[in-house]
Amino acid sequence: MKPSVLVTRRLPEPVLQKLKAKCQADINYEDTPLSKEEIIHRVADKDGMVTLLTDKIDRDIIDAGTKLKVISNVAVGYDNIDYHYARQKNIYVTNTPEVLTEATADLTWALILSVVRNIVPADRFTRQVKFKEWQLFLFLGSDLKGKRLGIIGLGRIGRAVAQRASGFEMEVVYYDIQRADRELEKRLKVTYLPLDQLLKTSDIITLHPPLTSQTHHLIDQKEFQLMKPGAYLINASRGPVVNEKALVEALKRKSIAGAGLDVYENEPRIEPELLAMDNVVLLPHIGSASLETRTKMAMIAIENVLQVVYGEKPTNYV
Ligand code: DGY
Repeated sequence: MKPSVLVTRRLPEPVLQKLKAKCQADINYEDTPLSKEEIIHRVADKDGMVTLLTDKIDRDIIDAGTKLKVISNVAVGYDNIDYHYARQKNIYVTNTPEVLTEATADLTWALILSVVRNIVPADRFTRQVKFKEWQLFLFLGSDLKGKRLGIIGLGRIGRAVAQRASGFEMEVVYYDIQRADRELEKRLKVTYLPLDQLLKTSDIITLHPPLTSQTHHLIDQKEFQLMKPGAYLINASRGPVVNEKALVEALKRKSIAGAGLDVYENEPRIEPELLAMDNVVLLPHIGSASLETRTKMAMIAIENVLQVVYGEKPTNYV
């Protein structure tokens, strides 16, 4: 009998075809998450499960999958899964690294440029037919050239963000719990700084760590107080890396100039005060959202699940 796999949410059709050719696939074709009870019910007889960031895979679900061998997340992050517990139960947790690096780095730069050059309010202004004449002081932003970009987390995405910075002739510093080797630093033209030094001296700070117990609220009240007045904060990693209430306070005090956010502490809920601020760019977690990238992510997730249900070690386990 073919192995059975639950797919918790709709994926691109060519990707699903590949799964269906090799497995009994139980697919939620709706583009809305299944309830916890529904997942518990449907995972009970499955060998594998393909999940999205919106599925909170906790102990109850893991325990319900009595035959489960793999939980394959369609994302590079896997903080939505109790992966310690899955590991204890010898269930592989897999992710989709690498394929989304460039798309997420591009989006990070889209946020940087948008917030620093007031793109969103300027667009709104133009649509409201308020553009009556060229004005010297209209929507003045800041130059990037010569400014210091502080990257927190020099993993794949942080490195891709650094590479793009040289096109803007910025100086790049970084902080990571593990300093990169000197060869890589040289190649990327980046300088290591302790976190507090990075916060005190960067004009733009961009966050790229994974969400772990160590990085939860890595940027909190104290860190905002260290930032340069006029600094910008960009977050396309995970919302809870920033204490969102502390961010609101920092913006209200004008101790930072603005923020560009793709992720939120209690996603999809957003601190209401952020919604009213013109110096904040808000996106609905679309870092990897290009057609090519999302298709590749889904394909890799399917390949990971197939490897395990057919007795192989998966390429991308965490
Ligand atoms: C991820 O993969 O972790 C992103 O947040 C969604 O693409």
